[in-house]
Amino acid sequence: MNSSVTAEETVLVELPDRTYHILIGRRLLDSIESLAHDIVHGDKVMIVADAAVESPWGKKMLRALRETDYDVELFIIPSGETSKSPEVLMQLWERLAAAGFTRDSAIIALGGGVTGDLAGFAAASFLRGINYIQVPTTLLAMVDSSVGGKTGINLASGKNLVGAFWQPSLVIIDLDVLGTLPDAARTSGLAEIIKYGVIHDADLFATLEREAEKLFVPGHGELLASIVRRSVEIKALVVGADEREAGLRAILNFGHTLGHAIEAETHYTRYSHGEAVAMGMVAASLIAVRRGGTQWTSEEHGRLVALIGRAGLPTAPPADVSAEALVARTYHDKKVKSGVVRYVLPTRVGKVELVRDVTDEMVLAVLRELGCA
Ligand SMILES: NC(=O)c1ccc[n+]([C@@H]2O[C@H](COP(=O)([O-])OP(=O)(O)OC[C@H]3O[C@@H](n4cnc5c(N)ncnc54)[C@H](O)[C@@H]3O)[C@@H](O)[C@H]2O)c1
Ligand SMILES: [Zn+2]
Repeated sequence: MNSSVTAEETVLVELPDRTYHILIGRRLLDSIESLAHDIVHGDKVMIVADAAVESPWGKKMLRALRETDYDVELFIIPSGETSKSPEVLMQLWERLAAAGFTRDSAIIALGGGVTGDLAGFAAASFLRGINYIQVPTTLLAMVDSSVGGKTGINLASGKNLVGAFWQPSLVIIDLDVLGTLPDAARTSGLAEIIKYGVIHDADLFATLEREAEKLFVPGHGELLASIVRRSVEIKALVVGADEREAGLRAILNFGHTLGHAIEAETHYTRYSHGEAVAMGMVAASLIAVRRGGTQWTSEEHGRLVALIGRAGLPTAPPADVSAEALVARTYHDKKVKSGVVRYVLPTRVGKVELVRDVTDEMVLAVLRELGCA
């Protein structure tokens, strides 16, 4: 990576009652103690870390914070979605209580979306809310889950069924931590970055079309930094305008209606979230082309499919999954309103609309055209 990219950049998330900073840069974890100092006013800190990042990042953070006056503990959670459970949350609550946490204590979430969602919900609920800092360690968590304040856990009956909106006090995106991330986990985050290009930023989309292959190549660190920054800015902008998902925030759902259906239908084991979203974006894009009436034509569809493919993501839903089963799943989406499945469809590169007139027949036809059973 380009060692000249050390200067940190800051993106502001502006909310009516609470504004916070997102820092983006390199070697930021080296200065964690001074960064935390402005946020943590009490003396107790719990680092909640994914087992996969305990070494080197968790230990590094623990050492740095222990050199200060903080009373710091490390709570390691097993890697994987199953840690977003009532059982692990209960253990974390008990640990916070045993450590004597008070209202001015703080949690640091160090990990991917799983860690951020769990630790964020513990922060939202313990003593009716304490401060927390997000330190995302996956590309997906950097550009998506660490920004916006959605926290929560899964139940046996479904994903993300219990949670709260609870904004972090600070988000620290240290791009160096991506150095230990396996390739497969990188591609998952790329799907959300492509999504930002489609929904809001034609320049970002064009940059990705030009440079997709260079993103993780050593020597192109500035490119990665600028793409992460742009993605975070878009998420921050949308969340700042619509914290509680009353309107605009729905555009972030592009590719997610069918993406969630594919994830659920394949029991959350076959595809990463990003892979499912990639397939959902392809389907939504083709629905937009077939529905017509906008500047999103088969040419734009072709560009999106090509980019998704170059990112190493799947460009069509699985042939062994039934189109009807997927359509049935879309009615379980949390975003269904009055029995109508709403779709976010592109109208041109960089712009989308939320529509209510997509029929089951249109979706079935598109899914079959893409090869679904
Ligand atoms: N709150 C939100 O707004 C929001 C948005 C999108 C997704 N999510 C949630 O995020 C979760 C998915 O997040 P994710 O894709 O980051 O998954 P994840 O947290 O499970 O991380 C993916 C894998 O990478 C490993 N890992 C993480 N950082 C690493 C690093 N630096 N080096 C090596 N390995 C590392 C983890 O152990 C895990 O195996 C889902 O639970 C989803 O519901 C939440
Ligand atoms: Zn997503």
